[in-house]
Amino acid sequence: MEQELLEKFRTWFDDYVTGFFSEDEYVNSNLKMKQLHSRRTCSVTLELVDELELDANQKRIAETIALFHDIGRFEQFVRYGTYNDARSVNHCQLGLQVLRDTNVLAPVDKAERKVIEKAIEYHGRKELPSDLDDQCLLFSKVIRDADKVDVLYVITEYHKHYRDCPGDFMLQTLLLELPDEPGYSPEIVDGLLHGRRIDHKELRTMNDMRLLLIGWVYDVNFAATLKQIRERGFLDVLFDFLPKTCDIERVRRTISRYVDSRITAG
Ligand SMILES: [Fe+2]
Repeated sequence: MEQELLEKFRTWFDDYVTGFFSEDEYVNSNLKMKQLHSRRTCSVTLELVDELELDANQKRIAETIALFHDIGRFEQFVRYGTYNDARSVNHCQLGLQVLRDTNVLAPVDKAERKVIEKAIEYHGRKELPSDLDDQCLLFSKVIRDADKVDVLYVITEYHKHYRDCPGDFMLQTLLLELPDEPGYSPEIVDGLLHGRRIDHKELRTMNDMRLLLIGWVYDVNFAATLKQIRERGFLDVLFDFLPKTCDIERVRRTISRYVDSRITAG
């Protein structure tokens, strides 16, 4: 893929998103949020692919995936008024549909296009399919990691805002309207102590959600991603919002040891 094509995609993306803006400021702000998320995910991806020492063409493919990974979000929000897939539509599948209907990827080489589409299709799945070829697997892992880094950025920024303006309910909306009470589920703590990923179905409070996000480290593919997460202090912000109990202190130590050991191992 040529650099020129990637530049065209960046312009196309902004034009496509702009086409959804209307008089409705609530809708606009939600669309803007995903537009910025997509752009930041591109930056995170570029840092990651540098660390992974991918070649120039692979970097352009990875950035294209990052730019378009949530392309279904805009139509989703305008049509259904929510980003909740369970209450609307699978945004990854919708994204694929958008890419096909608009034919934006037509100038991309067929094999590369397939990799881009697969990575977008699978970015929101709980697990990646086991039968992916090397290229699909590599780029799927990159977008899943980069997406997580930016989601952690957004959520920790909301937390900082919440600390300053606790009456503002933005954070609660973002964290699935879970009650912000002092407790947390012991099963979730236990899961994190044993390296288990936490499922959304287990969540009862906002603290559970914070623990789930912390547990994402177990689902991160690359040590380089863990390095970004550690350096940007996301885990510290989440731990600051959790109760100061022995359980949570144990989780903090376990997670910190895990992250350090993976970074050291490379
Ligand atoms: Fe997504």
